[in-house]
Amino acid sequence: MFSRIVRPSLVAARNFSTTKQNNFKVAVCGASGGIGQPLSLLLKINPLVSELSLYDIVHTPGVAADLSHIETAAKVKGFNGAENIKDALRNADVIIIPAGVPRKPGMTRDDLFNMNAGIVKALAEAAAEVAPNALIGIITNPVNSAVPIACEVLKKAGKLDPKRVFGVSTLDAVRANTFVAEAKGLNPKDVNVTVIGGHSGITIIPLLSRVTPAVTFPEDQLKALTVRIQEAGTEVVKAKAGAGSATLSMAFAGARFANSLLRGLKGEPNVIEPSYVISDVTEAPTSPHPSCWARKASRRTWGWAN
Ligand code: NAI
Repeated sequence: MFSRIVRPSLVAARNFSTTKQNNFKVAVCGASGGIGQPLSLLLKINPLVSELSLYDIVHTPGVAADLSHIETAAKVKGFNGAENIKDALRNADVIIIPAGVPRKPGMTRDDLFNMNAGIVKALAEAAAEVAPNALIGIITNPVNSAVPIACEVLKKAGKLDPKRVFGVSTLDAVRANTFVAEAKGLNPKDVNVTVIGGHSGITIIPLLSRVTPAVTFPEDQLKALTVRIQEAGTEVVKAKAGAGSATLSMAFAGARFANSLLRGLKGEPNVIEPSYVISDVTEAPTSPHPSCWARKASRRTWGWAN
């Protein structure tokens, strides 16, 4: 199953955190999209990125040309169309996937399953072949199902390392930190809310009783805040009125997540970041069926959460 867990013992098992490397190849799949473009911009200005590989089925030459004029060290290459997918992903250290269709008003994340499952499957197949050691962060919704799909594909190819596949649920923690800070008049950068569970509606579980710094809320405010965090994606979908879902805040969250992976790869200890991963913290059987997967608070050198 999938979930989040705090499990420091996993840290020792992650031997890729011992490298002193500080220049990495990062690939973004879906780089021309609403999330992909600002995410790629944020990665272009990340000093740990030496090569930024942009893959999409449309517009990547333009996005790559535009980003390549920014005065930072990362070399940008654009790869357009399915025939170039392997060149885009080859030997990537980190692959971030925001490829796929976003929600429109009235749709749930589950409604996206049929449209986005095939996209994630194809990208995972290519990654298994040309970048088997990459850390893969999946943004594509429904994350609760997209991550199991990628894992099944990698498993079939004999390339599944459960420690390398992540559902990017960082935006839930980003939102929770922001909303709690607003409610308590705090600076969001000082607030740390742990969010467990999955990445869809009521499966998103913010632990508001364990916030750092310690805060308390009356019962009605606690309920309202919990619902707001769970429904924050829908708040954006409604406000955008048919023009898509969260893109800019997601790009921020995706860049934060990617940066944490890179800091971990570089050997920095105690990097903690939220993620939806394979876990054994509950007794639910491991299964490709989404109902058997849950997010856990997984603490890794570069893994999880706050
Ligand atoms: P978008 O439609 O603006 O961009 C998606 C991009 O994916 C487009 O450029 C499209 O050409 C590309 N694409 C489509 N099929 C592809 C393929 N086979 N290979 C490579 N690229 C392909 O959508 P947006 O707003 O960027 O959202 C992307 C995904 O992220 C959606 O599934 C959305 O639901 C999800 N999302 C996830 C969040 C999270 O917290 N994990 C938050 C917000 C959105």
